[in-house]
Amino acid sequence: MNDPCGVFRDESGTWHLYYQYNPTGIVFGNQHWGHATSKDLYHWSNQPVALIPPGKNLALYSGSAVVDKNNTSGLFPNQTNGVVAIYTLSETLADGSAGPQTQALAYSRDGGFNFTHYEHNPIIDINSQHFRDPKVMYYQDHWVILIAYSREFTVGIFTSTNLINWTHASNFSHHGFEGFQWECPNLVRMGHYNDEGQKQGDAWVMFLSIHPGAPFGGTITQYYPGNFNGTHFEAADSIARVVDSGKDYYAMQFFNGVPSNEDPVSIAWASNWLYAQNVPTNQENWQGTMTLPRQHFVTKTTDIGWKLVSKPYNLQHVMGETVSFQQNLNNRILAIDFSNVDSNAVYWEVNVTGVPERDKISTPMSLNFTFLNPNTAEYVRAGYHFGGHLSRDFAGDTPFFLDRGGARGFDSVFFTDKFSITSTHNKNEWSVSGVLDRSIIEVFLNGGIDSATITYFTLEPLTVMLLSTPDMPQFMRVSMRLVGLKSSWES
Ligand code: FRU
Repeated sequence: MNDPCGVFRDESGTWHLYYQYNPTGIVFGNQHWGHATSKDLYHWSNQPVALIPPGKNLALYSGSAVVDKNNTSGLFPNQTNGVVAIYTLSETLADGSAGPQTQALAYSRDGGFNFTHYEHNPIIDINSQHFRDPKVMYYQDHWVILIAYSREFTVGIFTSTNLINWTHASNFSHHGFEGFQWECPNLVRMGHYNDEGQKQGDAWVMFLSIHPGAPFGGTITQYYPGNFNGTHFEAADSIARVVDSGKDYYAMQFFNGVPSNEDPVSIAWASNWLYAQNVPTNQENWQGTMTLPRQHFVTKTTDIGWKLVSKPYNLQHVMGETVSFQQNLNNRILAIDFSNVDSNAVYWEVNVTGVPERDKISTPMSLNFTFLNPNTAEYVRAGYHFGGHLSRDFAGDTPFFLDRGGARGFDSVFFTDKFSITSTHNKNEWSVSGVLDRSIIEVFLNGGIDSATITYFTLEPLTVMLLSTPDMPQFMRVSMRLVGLKSSWES
């Protein structure tokens, strides 16, 4: 699999995840829309393939889906759960060269399981080979769709009253990182909070995926806070911001159908086109995974301006037994063996209070943690530098690093080892939490103000967490918790 597509929650609370899927191979090609459903976004039921290409030399690329409750399309007489999927039809010409990319529609009268291709497709065609990934949503009294003019670094915004006939309304272009092409635009309204955590209202945030040419190489998702009036999006500033500072967070999509009194929920593909086709899971006959579902809002603080906050969505659905809870971990080295967690997936958090301001710290002080396998000595590790001279572990001048260089199961020149995040501590506190799940680690700093997702491929599972807090004075308080996660393959 690669991109999530058409993600939505239906009226009964079932989450639908479609995804870019090749049913006849484990590498990209012959793209269909696979389908899975879930009640909690963790336990998934595989469903039959939802969308099959309507002809030879046609691939079904990414897109989105909505419930057409009021039958605006006229495709759903006498029902309120009709689903419209709008996707890119990508054609390959007889000589093997790239043909047009057009936007096409399919509809489902059984709540999103079986789809029929609309007979008058395509519904949007601008005679381009690089025009894709339609994201549809409802705005007050009309439908809105965003489509990437990929190589022009532009998102086209179109409007419609019936999901079939679309009028071009505006363009959003050349903002933040451009890379080689723009893909998978999304536009979402979410809560906006100040320094004190008080809600200030709502903000609109545009999301875009870039490939290749991201700052860490290959693929990345970026975002722009701003304003949307139903036809035009205006970014609040010209700053380039990335959603996730790891290398495996792409094609992020927001679920349609989340009630407006809840924060929006997203999911992304945990890979990078630079090496996605060569990962060692190929030997197990599968390739590609999704990230954790995440919930989001934005903050705007005097120090750092606009920031997207990301947190794992309702992780309690898979929280199991606490393996370790410890306090007063100053100046210690702690080893926690979690080899008895059957799923090999764990949630952990480390909280530090009483932290002095960075420039008041003269001798180097850091907190490091490592997940390792004691037999193969493989590891993934991370650390935060509170202040003082930087140690050699820290790439550049950034306080937080993440390093997957100790995993020996995959060798690719593009598989960068070290990642850095500029995020620092705030109000005398610093925290890190995350999930480690077999071959993915997702890290959240300071309650989700920064995140980093990386895949890693070890020969043996990582089963021990080492936490070290050298030279940390008594007035700083460190506590940690590590919880086993229940397998999401069992109900
Ligand atoms: C992003 C992407 C999309 C395209 C899909 C094809 O990863 O390249 O632009 O629709 O994948 O699978």
